[in-house]
Amino acid sequence: MGEIEKLSFNRKISRREALSTAAKVAISAVVAGVVAGVGGYYAGSLVAPPVTKTVTETRTETRTAGAATVTMTATETKTVTSTVTSPTTVIRTVTATAPAPTKPLKIGVIGKSVHPYWSVVDKGSAKAGEELKMAGMDITVSFWVPYKEDVPAQLKTMDSYIAEGYAGIAVAPSDPDAIIPVIRKALDAKIPVITIDTDAPKSDRLAYLGTDNYMAGVAAGKAMLEALQKMGLARPGGKIAMGTGSLTARNSLERMQGFKDVVEPAGYKVLEPVCDYEDAAKALELAAATLAANPDLVGAFGVYAYNGPAWARAVEEAGKVGKIAIVEFDATKENIEPIKTGVIYATVAQRQYFMGYYGVKLLALMNQWGWDSALKFYIPRYPANKIFDTGVDVVKKENLKAYYEEVVARSEPVDWTPD
Ligand code: BGC
Repeated sequence: MGEIEKLSFNRKISRREALSTAAKVAISAVVAGVVAGVGGYYAGSLVAPPVTKTVTETRTETRTAGAATVTMTATETKTVTSTVTSPTTVIRTVTATAPAPTKPLKIGVIGKSVHPYWSVVDKGSAKAGEELKMAGMDITVSFWVPYKEDVPAQLKTMDSYIAEGYAGIAVAPSDPDAIIPVIRKALDAKIPVITIDTDAPKSDRLAYLGTDNYMAGVAAGKAMLEALQKMGLARPGGKIAMGTGSLTARNSLERMQGFKDVVEPAGYKVLEPVCDYEDAAKALELAAATLAANPDLVGAFGVYAYNGPAWARAVEEAGKVGKIAIVEFDATKENIEPIKTGVIYATVAQRQYFMGYYGVKLLALMNQWGWDSALKFYIPRYPANKIFDTGVDVVKKENLKAYYEEVVARSEPVDWTPD
């Protein structure tokens, strides 16, 4: 039985408690050893000068947080003073300095619009912050989104985080080209920057953490073909509309491309996207207008979180339920309800909680371990690969319950029930 197992066994304490007890035992052993050595050396002499020795010892602790195991190393310096007053009596004074508190870190997370989708990212970021605080870090996590798509406001927020000396920034750029200079500026100021939700691969961002949007678009295209088939709407030359919130953000462009690459070769005609710039009210207006202008539409694709619900409402209001196949993205309550009622066939659910959660943890760890070590820890084959794929789930009425259980098991927040 190893030292740790023995401790847990004898005193019925948790493994975590055992680990810290084992660490304490190790510290006292080191200190005791040094003092005994000093005492031994002076034993026999009548008067001995006080001796001061400095011992540096390193402790390693392993914690498990979600899918990641984080190893943290703390260095403690102890000063040991030993004074010998008689040949046989040794008086020892041991002073141990607690490790210096970590320097306060501010991490900023910048999203794209006010929507329940982003509230989940916020929750993931906050959770990571809480866990890091409990592990002894002095950390503040701020989360910011503009009301709707707003490139200048995102750039301004980046600038103010740089000026305030933030220790890391996770940003979802609505315009991957416009963000390039300010990312460079942050890196020059030694502030690590990663992208989440939507990438800016031409920038110098250190990594992207989020959905593989092209493949997610392919998944949406496949779900659309299945829906058309099952609903008896499959027909060569059938028209499919797309509603999106951005014509610049890469996630929007990649999703639409992936989608088209599946449905066009199958003979469908995909209309030019209608864009609402992440304004949900505008999305509904555009959906209704598109339906009115295209009475022969067979399908509609909702590219951003609120686009699916907008198509669903427009289809219901036009009395066309069952006549238009709808496929959407994301899994907030407003996305799931129309799946339950059968108005929407499928959604490609992102795991945005982890974009916030791992985004903050990665940036915090970069401050502790250095950028490269932390990035290599989170991303296999870094820097050849700079992508942390958070994955998606394709959800339909038939697997809604299984998906719900999965989400709960992964500790993602959920604001709906499957029944
Ligand atoms: C996208 C985000 C977008 C959100 C709300 C999600 O599908 O990934 O970029 O901001 O929808 O519009």
